[in-house]
Amino acid sequence: MSTTLSVRPLHEVFVGEVAGADLTQPLSDSQIAAIEAAIAQYAVLVFRDQRLTDDQQLAFSRRFGELEETRGTGITKPGELRLHPAFADVSNLDKDNAVLARDNRRRLYSLGNRLWHSDSSFKPIPARYSLLSGRVVATHGGDTEFADMRAAYDALDEATKAEIAELVCEHSLIYSRELLGFDDLTDAEKATMRPVTQPLVRRHPISGRTSLYLASHIGLILGWPVPEARAFIRDLTEHATRPRFVYAHKWRPFDLVMWDNRCTMHRVRRYEASEVRDMRRTTVAGEPPIAVGARVAA
Ligand SMILES: [Fe+2]
Repeated sequence: MSTTLSVRPLHEVFVGEVAGADLTQPLSDSQIAAIEAAIAQYAVLVFRDQRLTDDQQLAFSRRFGELEETRGTGITKPGELRLHPAFADVSNLDKDNAVLARDNRRRLYSLGNRLWHSDSSFKPIPARYSLLSGRVVATHGGDTEFADMRAAYDALDEATKAEIAELVCEHSLIYSRELLGFDDLTDAEKATMRPVTQPLVRRHPISGRTSLYLASHIGLILGWPVPEARAFIRDLTEHATRPRFVYAHKWRPFDLVMWDNRCTMHRVRRYEASEVRDMRRTTVAGEPPIAVGARVAA
């Protein structure tokens, strides 16, 4: 197998397509280092035609660190898992591989993935990398869109950069579901979704680049009136998801897309509800964000 990876840009500011890697096989340390260097630069990497088994996806993902395990929110009961708990099952299938009914509660809850977000920003230690394998892709729609939060930050005017430098936001699944009118959460479910705080601006530990850290999970900015915070977060999100910062990934079967949640947002686009879409995500756990607020960094 070739040990030389090459990366071809797919967008003006981020996203690279990697050639020369067969992810079904164990990779050398130098290949893993090359992938880490590439994702620090490109933020999103596309690997084509990777016919991964679940075990192969787990093995490749674990080369980048400890994996997140599915954390019970109560929406999916433990006995209902279709995949190993180290997978986030972002398919539209139940444990028997049947397509979820349109009004299925788990399906409606998962529609939160259609809102711009960064994976696990609602956890105290949010995600580093996500690796999404397209086993059965939608025939129409179902693109995953990515937005480069570094380029979006760089394009802000200096006054805005100064204003947001030390702001801290609250993130919770409750807030993102509320945006879709999914508000019939039980007290037990809500208890698993308690808000966590994250800086609005963060620095990438490898590239050193500064990013907005946005997600639809944000419900407030500490110290701000709620409506003003939500209007401002909406403004920043509109800015950060302008077409020039966004790449739309059109899935081919067996694509593996890996992204860095520390400096990107993503969302899935609409697809036919009755059609099988089998997407399997593994998630590498991260570290507490590095805030760029001067007092924090000093
Ligand atoms: Fe996601």
